[in-house]
Formats: sequence, structure tokens, C-alpha cells
Amino acid sequence: MTGPVLVFDSGVGGLSVVEALRRRLPDVVLAYACDNAMLPYGVREDAWLVERILAVCEAAVAASGCCGLVVACNTASTLALDALRERLSVPVVGTVPAIKPATGASESRHIGLLATSATVARPYTARLIEAFAGDCRVTRLAADPLVGEAERLVAGEVPDPEVLRRVLAPLAELPDLDTLVLGCTHFPLLREALEAAVPHPVRWVDSGDAIARRTGQVIVAPQRRPAVERGWVTGPDTTLARGLAGFGFSETHALVLP
Ligand code: DGL
Repeated sequence: MTGPVLVFDSGVGGLSVVEALRRRLPDVVLAYACDNAMLPYGVREDAWLVERILAVCEAAVAASGCCGLVVACNTASTLALDALRERLSVPVVGTVPAIKPATGASESRHIGLLATSATVARPYTARLIEAFAGDCRVTRLAADPLVGEAERLVAGEVPDPEVLRRVLAPLAELPDLDTLVLGCTHFPLLREALEAAVPHPVRWVDSGDAIARRTGQVIVAPQRRPAVERGWVTGPDTTLARGLAGFGFSETHALVLP
């Protein structure tokens, strides 16, 4: 197959995965699709969201002519990976919270999961915790306001430190928690600001590099960077095109849904 590897997220979060893909697979052609019209996914109802994710990914796969899809969204992957694999004819790599690496890194055996309210509540997440964190205490923190802050950052604004501090405030009561999983792809984009806002130092773990490694194993991609890498968006594009261009996607198109 000759098309690009398509990276999909609700918004700009997948760009943190793009950074990891560029580091590990520097010659691979990428495309980007986001459902900015329906952002944020983390507060939406499951049945509606599955249908929406299927429709957007199907349209973006067709528009990009991609050779494989990276679902760079924990909220989408923990809900719709099986359905996507059934529906699409290209290989699909998903993104789920990095619980296993976090348990490997934690000395205190108390880790935290920072994710959207949908992801922290999903049965898929409960199964991950049961399978890999049996000997750890796992504290789940819903952190939906961080999604908007990451969007603001990529739009060229400064994230609000007060919002970050409020989201991370519960950690002040958990001094033994030593490792925090960034279980939403938007959050690694805020890493510097999160470090400044956290009540006590923690190890930060995200899935970016593991997804990039897995992509290299699962998707056979052409080793060629063209002059133009493209992005697709579902909603009005105000500052998003500029944000995507900053990550190499120099052309942005409207994604037309059936
Ligand atoms: N970036 C997405 C994730 O990894 C979620 C953002 C949203 O709520 O739309 O879960």
C-alpha cells in the first residue's frame, strides 16, 4: 500500500502521538484527521460515539487513501477499536492508557490515571488495571478540562495554570502516589505546564512511544516523505490549520461525512 499512515483523534491530542511517530519512524508519510466539530469526546454518550467514530474514520480513511490507521485517542480506542477493525480494511493501531509501564516504574506501588471521564469509567480501563496493576493502588482522576487547555496551547494561547492546578489538586492528599499515567493524548502536549502545576513531583508515563513502535510493526508504510502532508477536520477551522501546519500538515481540508 502506498498511502500515508493516518492519525485520528477528536482534536489536537493525536499530535502528541504524531511527535512520537516522527521520532521513531522519521521517514513515514503521515496524515491527520480530527473530529473537531464534536470535541470533546470524553463527555459523550457511548452508543452515539461509536457510530460517530466509525463514520469519521471511514470517511478519513477513504479521503486520505491511507495504508493504516492510528487511533490516537484513548476515549475512542477504549470504546470502538473492535468495531473499527471490523469495519475498516486497513490495519488499525489503538491507544490505551499506559497502565502496565506505569506499574513497572512505580516504587510506592500507588499510581494515578489522568484521563477523560469516559476513559476512567470504561470497562476496558478496569480490565487493564485488573490485568496489569494487581499489586498497585490505582487512583483515577477525570481531567476533562485539560482537553480544552491543550487545544488552546496548539492554537497559540497559554494554558491557564489555575485550571491545571485545580485538576491536579487531589494529588496533594496522595503524597505516596509517585507515577501518573497521561491517559489522554491531549495531555502530553501540556507536560511542561502540568509539571509546574502538580503538588508534588511524579513520574509521567504516556503511550506515545509504544504506539509508534507498534505502528512500525503493524503497518507497512512507504518510507518516503512527500512535500505535502495533509490534515482533515470536521468542523469550522479557525486556528486549527495553523496548529496542524506546525506539526507538518501543511494542507487542511474539510472532511465530508456521508
Ligand atoms: N484525546 C482524547 C483521548 O486520548 C480525548 C479528548 C476528548 O475528550 O475529546 O482520550
